[in-house]
Amino acid sequence: MTAPNTHYDLLIRNGTVIDGTKAPRFAADVGIMAGKIAAIGPLGEHTADRTIDATGLMVAPGFIDSHTHDDQAVLSQADMSFKVSQGVTTVIAGNCGISAAPLRDDMDLPMPLSLIDSPPAGRFTSFKAYLDALRDSPSSVNVAAMVGHSTLRAVVMADLDRPADANEIAAMQAHVEEAMQAGAIGLSTGTFYPPAVKATTEEIIEVSRPLAARKALYVTHMRDESDKVMEALEETFSIGRALDIPVVVSHHKVQNAHNFGKTRVTLPFIRETMKHQCVGLDCYPYTAGSTMIRTDRGMLDGRVLIAGSQPHPECAGRDLDDIAREWGVSKTEAAERLQPGSAIYFMMDEDDVQRILAFDETMIGSDGIPVGEKPHPRLWGTFPRVLGHYSRDIGLFPLETAVWKMTGLTARTFGLHGRGTLEVGHGADVVLFDAGSIRDAATYEAPTQPAEGIHSVIVNGQLTWSAGTHTGARSGQVITRRDPVPETP
Ligand code: ZN
Ligand code: CU
Repeated sequence: MTAPNTHYDLLIRNGTVIDGTKAPRFAADVGIMAGKIAAIGPLGEHTADRTIDATGLMVAPGFIDSHTHDDQAVLSQADMSFKVSQGVTTVIAGNCGISAAPLRDDMDLPMPLSLIDSPPAGRFTSFKAYLDALRDSPSSVNVAAMVGHSTLRAVVMADLDRPADANEIAAMQAHVEEAMQAGAIGLSTGTFYPPAVKATTEEIIEVSRPLAARKALYVTHMRDESDKVMEALEETFSIGRALDIPVVVSHHKVQNAHNFGKTRVTLPFIRETMKHQCVGLDCYPYTAGSTMIRTDRGMLDGRVLIAGSQPHPECAGRDLDDIAREWGVSKTEAAERLQPGSAIYFMMDEDDVQRILAFDETMIGSDGIPVGEKPHPRLWGTFPRVLGHYSRDIGLFPLETAVWKMTGLTARTFGLHGRGTLEVGHGADVVLFDAGSIRDAATYEAPTQPAEGIHSVIVNGQLTWSAGTHTGARSGQVITRRDPVPETP
């Protein structure tokens, strides 16, 4: 299939390829040239500038993190070690209604928008300015980004505590149009959060109208993942139907003890809806979630760990119960004193998490929040945890399925062309890992420990992580949406 004596930039020899399509693994060499996969097969007689011996290792497409809040981290922590060390080569940013653009310098950001706001050089007033900054100063991973509805509300509305009026909707629409033209892959909402709680379904449909002609994605942290999760799913699907666009349910879960087991109802509903419209979902492999510190909606019902607190940075990593006892106040009072900040909430059931992970069409997304001293361990551990703990150790699904859930399925769902599967002509995003030893090392106590078993990570042909060390490569690209080819009559 290739001429004899082809000279590659990089040749991965003697590995076992898991190509990201769910197909069974096979033995092959992989040749990389000019940042692309150039050949897959027996390449024994060929030469290369650099060769990696992958004997005993799996060779897979670089993992795509379907749900991140890395919007600013890709600029301010551009080595992205917390992701690259897991084998992640592409991140989807702009989730939960929160994006890095468009913003103004003269505005105060409410929580949770301020969770990602630490711009190294001023805020981005347009989506194009944000993507241009990423191109001018690339990070170590590829980025595909969405525009956040809560961010749009904050930039357009003086009062977030009501639905948007017609003028405000028009102004948000104009921003969505600008983001689409700049290459955003979709729009996200976070109606669970105070800045968007008052947004009506109609507001969301109208603001999202520019997505329709482009079949861009609507992605949502739903209004409710607890008692009213079924109503929230119905709202999400109705928005997809109103605009005839694909929807993604972010970090699907059912929270609070009295809802445990409800995935027996939500997943069949999602499955049934998938027969009629385009639906995706993702999940992180932990029974604790993490977000801003809040005291409502039963968030404090279970164990709570403080991840970070602006007024009390010394409380990071501590149990809210202990803090409350020490201060001689209620749990709620202690949480209020710690605001603004972020926390880890133990509020899910392991059986539900496993049921969602094992659901055929569930993608893997970390939902990691790259701020605070003691972040949720998902920031450093998500992908090796699925490959090691869930696939190998407890046998939830075969390794090929695990890889597909973090590569091919994700690229297909988000429309990332030329990524997600090992194919000739695709971007050379590749991870080499040891299927026997891969495991997450990050824990709630020590959340920033790099995973074990990741041998090499290649981003657009550049070796970026090798033998537990970052090489310094910054070869990430901006992945933009491709408009559907117009149908010819
Ligand atoms: Zn979310
Ligand atoms: Cu999120």
